[in-house]
Amino acid sequence: MNEFRALRVEQDADGQIGAHIRHLKPDQLPAGEVLIRVSHSSVNYKDALAATGTGRIMHKLPMTGGIDLAGIVLESDNPTVIPGSAVLVTGQGLGERHDGGYAELARVPADWALPLPANLDAHAVMALGTAGFTAGLSLLRMEQMGQTPEHGPIAVTGATGGVGSASIALFAAAGYEVHAITGKTDEGPRLRELGAQEILLRSEIDFGRRPLESAIWGGAVDSAGGELLTWLTRTTKPWGNIAACGLVGGTDLHTTVMPFILRGVNLLGIATPDCPRTLREQVWARLAACFDDRRLALITAGDVTLDQLPTVFRQLIDGQARGRYVVVL
Ligand SMILES: NC(=O)c1ccc[n+]([C@@H]2O[C@H](COP(=O)([O-])OP(=O)(O)OC[C@H]3O[C@@H](n4cnc5c(N)ncnc54)[C@H](OP(=O)(O)O)[C@@H]3O)[C@@H](O)[C@H]2O)c1
Repeated sequence: MNEFRALRVEQDADGQIGAHIRHLKPDQLPAGEVLIRVSHSSVNYKDALAATGTGRIMHKLPMTGGIDLAGIVLESDNPTVIPGSAVLVTGQGLGERHDGGYAELARVPADWALPLPANLDAHAVMALGTAGFTAGLSLLRMEQMGQTPEHGPIAVTGATGGVGSASIALFAAAGYEVHAITGKTDEGPRLRELGAQEILLRSEIDFGRRPLESAIWGGAVDSAGGELLTWLTRTTKPWGNIAACGLVGGTDLHTTVMPFILRGVNLLGIATPDCPRTLREQVWARLAACFDDRRLALITAGDVTLDQLPTVFRQLIDGQARGRYVVVL
């Protein structure tokens, strides 16, 4: 390939951040041992923050967006990654410090490339992408801290979004009773089909004021931060685990030490980008065991092209995402 298409995030002449399709040459790719013909990528909230300039995600501009990719290895200078093999990369600084997956070609360090799990193809791993990986890492970390279904229901915030949808399916498949917390009034049927047993509307929650409210949750996966995460710390049962993943509702956390010293609640930080390789492999194995075609279809909003991405980014920033978009290159 002498030239390839990429969605580049740039600072425009008026100072605004914008995303544009550009034609690049392979020698413009960053350094790395593995050259990949990217076939699929995905859309995460972080991608939308980066490409719209809503968040300062990229360490330099211009840069190719996309924190996830899947494709076929074209060239490799490392014997552990074989040309012709199918690989995936999530996080690792893709689309932040290193040109990302919104391009027909990518070059990455060999350690970033994982083989596709046995029963998932490139489309399927990108239907999951970083959002699915976040759900998987949350489950693993909570179980490492002793979480079991007997502990009580798992609250999932941002339920209709990427992390939320994948978490509902994953925790339900693992035997947990899942309660979906959403801002949308019309998504009940899909959330139930994903595995949610109860649905709570965000607008109808009584957050209370006390440092400890009645204990409801065995644990939680939280995409929201802010008021919702604060409330979760005050309503989680003794020894329950909360996986703190996101910030769509805010970055503040106004709680007290009471949930931690009186109930032994664990607030687990979920940071996917630099997750160690052995843990990444465990998470993907867990995801592959759970996500059959039916569950993948339920979390997937649809396929999009590079040209359609700006519209999709806007949807995510406006909190209107319903599941995951797969980018087909
Ligand atoms: N820590 C990590 O490594 C990691 C990895 C992946 C993602 N994240 C973070 O996780 C969050 C979710 O990512 P995503 O890709 O799933 O995004 P997404 O697909 O855009 O989903 C976000 C969902 O959050 C809900 N929401 C929107 N505004 C909200 C508000 N003000 N308060 C509470 N909920 C609100 C909406 O669902 P409902 O209408 O159903 O409530 C929305 O669909 C983001 O903050 C992202 O940066 C972190």
